[in-house]
Amino acid sequence: MLDTLSKSLFHLLAASDGLKRLASTYGMRSPESFARRFIAGESVHEAIEAARQVQARGMLVSLDLLGESVASHTEAAKATREYLQVIDEIIDAGVERNISLKLTQLGLEIDRATATDNLRRILDVAGRHEFFVRIDMENSPFTEVTLDIFETLWQLGYCSAGVVLQSALKRSEQDMQRMMRLGARIRLVKGAYKESRSIAYASKSDVDAAYVRMMRVLLTDATYPAIATHDPAMIEATRAWAQERQIPPERFEFQMLFGIRRDLQQSLVDEGYRVRVYIPFGREWFPYFMRRLGERPANVGFVVRGILSEG
Ligand code: FDA
Repeated sequence: MLDTLSKSLFHLLAASDGLKRLASTYGMRSPESFARRFIAGESVHEAIEAARQVQARGMLVSLDLLGESVASHTEAAKATREYLQVIDEIIDAGVERNISLKLTQLGLEIDRATATDNLRRILDVAGRHEFFVRIDMENSPFTEVTLDIFETLWQLGYCSAGVVLQSALKRSEQDMQRMMRLGARIRLVKGAYKESRSIAYASKSDVDAAYVRMMRVLLTDATYPAIATHDPAMIEATRAWAQERQIPPERFEFQMLFGIRRDLQQSLVDEGYRVRVYIPFGREWFPYFMRRLGERPANVGFVVRGILSEG
């Protein structure tokens, strides 16, 4: 109940232009600013520096140039060009070749063809340089079309890409079978968006139960799944299942977000598990940041203290 309320509140606040302006003024202005806890910086160079530090701790990385819901072809083309530049920068820097992106950033709210073409341009270049490209999953109006575009491109030979499925959505267990038939790499998450009860589980215990069911199928039968969560109970369930079925640690990876549960990230690496840290960066960080606050209202205190200390 509290989870749903908090997601709804932050969903509403995320639409506020005033709040966005305020946050944009203070959030990133110095190395101590509050948004830097969750976002590596506004430039790709800051993200690459963060990636180097994460890799030095024995972890894998995925870089995400933040952005979503662009409303014009010009903006979608610009986001695509920026991604291609990010690919160049990653190659030059020599950090791991793994990126995550959102289809509404590439124009999916405008039309499907625009997003597909832009994605294809990115996958063409990424494929030539052995990148892995994860297509993040957005809110439910985009679930079907995201999977469709992924499937179409996969069948055209764009196979160095992966998808994300959200255990909160009731449809996801079926989607998982569909994506597994392709042999696609799946990242399993609980789901960051507020969804209606008709299509999503309302209680945390139902979302968690679906997460465990899906994790077990993925670990047993899927191609190199990613178990993306900070929830110690989900992580323990994964470890227990892997142990019971004798699934070695190189067959899957854990994933966590930059700045969240760094202690847990490190202890899993120390135990010999693979851990990938998702490193978001860029000027369009506000909606991502608000989703992180909605997941854990205690983070708001941290932000308010940050603003007050900035004066
Ligand atoms: P849950 O929310 O139950 O939290 C468990 C514990 O984790 C909390 O008690 C707290 O200790 C810690 N925690 C969780 N969130 C925190 C926060 N914001 N700040 C501080 N501590 C926090 N979603 C989506 O819809 N589409 C996507 O493509 C992705 N991609 C993605 C990639 C990766 C690598 C991760 C880790 C997550 C995503 N997500 C996502 C987000 C995901 O759906 C979910 O919203 C968050 O991971 C929070 O859920 P948990 O599984 O961590 O559990």
